[in-house]
Amino acid sequence: MKRYHVTTFGCQMNEHDSERMKGMLETLGYGEAPDPDDADLLLFNTCSIRESADSRFVAHLGHAKRRKRENPDVLIGVGGCWAQSVKDEVFQRFPFVDVAFGPGQIHKLAEFLTSDSLTAQGYFEFEDFPAQLPTKRAKDLHAWVQISVGCNQRCSYCIVPSTRGRESSRPFDVIVDEVRRQAADGVREITLLGQNVNAYGRDLRVGGKASPRTFAELLHAVDAVDGIERIRYTSPHPQDMKEDVILAHRDLESVCPHIHLPLQSGSSRILKAMRRTYNRERYLDRVAMIREHVPDTAITTDIIVGFPGETEEDFEQTLQVCEEVGYDGAFTFIFSPRRGTEAAGMTEGLVPHPVKVERMERLVEVVQRRAHDRAQRFVGRTIDVHVEGPSRTDPSRLRGRSPHNKVVNFTGVATPGEIVPVEILAATSQTLAGEASLLATATAR
Ligand code: SAH
Ligand code: SF4
Ligand code: F3S
Repeated sequence: MKRYHVTTFGCQMNEHDSERMKGMLETLGYGEAPDPDDADLLLFNTCSIRESADSRFVAHLGHAKRRKRENPDVLIGVGGCWAQSVKDEVFQRFPFVDVAFGPGQIHKLAEFLTSDSLTAQGYFEFEDFPAQLPTKRAKDLHAWVQISVGCNQRCSYCIVPSTRGRESSRPFDVIVDEVRRQAADGVREITLLGQNVNAYGRDLRVGGKASPRTFAELLHAVDAVDGIERIRYTSPHPQDMKEDVILAHRDLESVCPHIHLPLQSGSSRILKAMRRTYNRERYLDRVAMIREHVPDTAITTDIIVGFPGETEEDFEQTLQVCEEVGYDGAFTFIFSPRRGTEAAGMTEGLVPHPVKVERMERLVEVVQRRAHDRAQRFVGRTIDVHVEGPSRTDPSRLRGRSPHNKVVNFTGVATPGEIVPVEILAATSQTLAGEASLLATATAR
């Protein structure tokens, strides 16, 4: 039997695309090789969101090149966003690559592998929602569910619209059917995936006629599926975070009390240059609406420091928003110019690297201090924890995730996949610590 090995970089979208690559390869009769040295087909599912993502992947390619030199029959494939962003240049830069394809062309990998001549091929078209593909799920009780592809936003720093194409929603009933099948197969937690999930459904058509649906309707339909206990989604855009979605968090038991609301910057001037389509005030209005309807819901965010033109005053406004909102967590990034994006061509007010680093340190201090404060509300509560495995720092303890998406390390006996009540005894900015409760049911979600 031929064997494959897939190395995945980047976001959840890529993790799920890799599951689909694996599912497709297994229907072609390939088996998975846990060690890349044993594989006949080496696949890389790449990311290009920041420069660090590019360099991480290029470092891995050295190993593939060596394998190919030792055994020319080994096939090397490069898929994902980096491949899409450089297209056929892949073959000039890395002549040992046999096949390259963008995120929308995973199904073409099968065409390539089953064709008679295996001469180097690249596939970079954009289609509507890509063909349905079998999936090899990484976890038994959790499933990713793709609800849309592409992004119609034009954030000036971001490479994604050019690597994933225009937004295209997957038909409503097809998604709900997939969730039903997953639930019948034992899945209890799902994560709905899209670049801008709450823009879902506007482009849907039935029989050539516009037949829009909303993201909130989808949450209701998925919540109604028996067996699904937890629903998460990523990522929403603040512009489209409407009241109906926030109310779904309040009214639907399975929708987790966590909203990721990417801020990017607290300065309206910088938000405009980023083409984020909201200003500081509108963003804070959304936060206020969340806090009004679902005050306990965790809010997390993404922030970029050092965007071209960001002054000390702009940056201080970002710090102020972080103080005011009190995020439960934040991903913080230093601006990285990406080929082909508008921001990469900006030349005014470039922020020197040491200033970016200094701002990042100040930002992390505020984010962590506020996250630490916020996390104290969990101490003394008993929370349902979805068990993932042993704790990373202390293998005698267990690790899992709370509905608020906090990592929980705890003592007790449980198997991965189980949902168990845990009494929270302590909280830091990043994790909660506790012990499995002897109570039969949790008293709080
Ligand atoms: N669609 C998602 C984001 C995907 S990228 C959304 O809009 O929320 C994840 C995060 O990477 C972004 O939110 C942004 O904070 C960061 N990011 C994207 N491009 C970047 C760049 N060029 N430099 C630094 N950070 C970037
Ligand atoms: Fe990129 Fe903006 Fe689209 Fe997110 S919404 S993927 S940051 S262009
Ligand atoms: Fe990276 Fe593409 Fe995801 S650039 S972050 S893999 S959408």
